Amino acid sequence: MASGAIDPTGVAKVNVDEVTIPATDVSVYEALYGRRMAWRYKDEPVPKEALTRMLDTAVWAPNHRLTEPWRFFILEKGSEARKKVAGLAYEFSMGRNDNPTRAEASRQTILDPPIVMFVYSVPGPNEDTTQENYASVCCAAQNISLAGFAEGLAVTWETGGTTRHPDLKKTLGAEEDWKMAVMLSIGAPAESPQTSRTPVTSFVTSFDH
Ligand SMILES: Cc1cc2nc3c(=O)[nH]c(=O)nc-3n(C[C@H](O)[C@H](O)[C@H](O)COP(=O)(O)O)c2cc1C
Repeated sequence: MASGAIDPTGVAKVNVDEVTIPATDVSVYEALYGRRMAWRYKDEPVPKEALTRMLDTAVWAPNHRLTEPWRFFILEKGSEARKKVAGLAYEFSMGRNDNPTRAEASRQTILDPPIVMFVYSVPGPNEDTTQENYASVCCAAQNISLAGFAEGLAVTWETGGTTRHPDLKKTLGAEEDWKMAVMLSIGAPAESPQTSRTPVTSFVTSFDH
């Protein structure tokens, strides 16, 4: 298990023309509309190369003043870290519901996915920057989600239960002042949940003269 906080200071930056952009037949629009979260996964690992390609896209998310506010913790299936966090999930659920069956289900939601990733946002020197940082981290998570679609993988967002456990940061090695953005579960989906949206026109005010 990794220990200590992540520190990117001094790591050389990469220009976009140095990046090898992965080839795919999936269009941006196909990914935007086709991306779906799933809660059941096929029992097959996420190829390391696919996960790397997805993660690589995260840091190309827009971030004001290039604060690079994202921090990622990747928990492989069967890892000690995963088991520890699953224990926190059990504990958190028991504390809320005092129901061992539900708590066990919570534990399994951490143990089951091929990959579990916790994504944090670092604070800025003031509240405005902290908020911008959080917005950028959400964009980074969406990059991972869209790249996941191109890889044939579902990327599922969760911000409940375990993500709120007071011991999670210590367990992962995250700094106390980092803000939890999202827990991502990643894997080949074993279901295709139906979903719908209200057309955007309902949310738009246009000024054309
Ligand atoms: C910020 C955020 C937090 C979420 N947290 C949870 C969660 O805690 N539990 C859950 O079941 N789904 C969670 N979801 C999943 C949403 O409910 C999901 O977007 C919805 O099911 C529609 O799925 P789709 O975007 O694939 O159509 C979250 C999504 C987002 C964007």
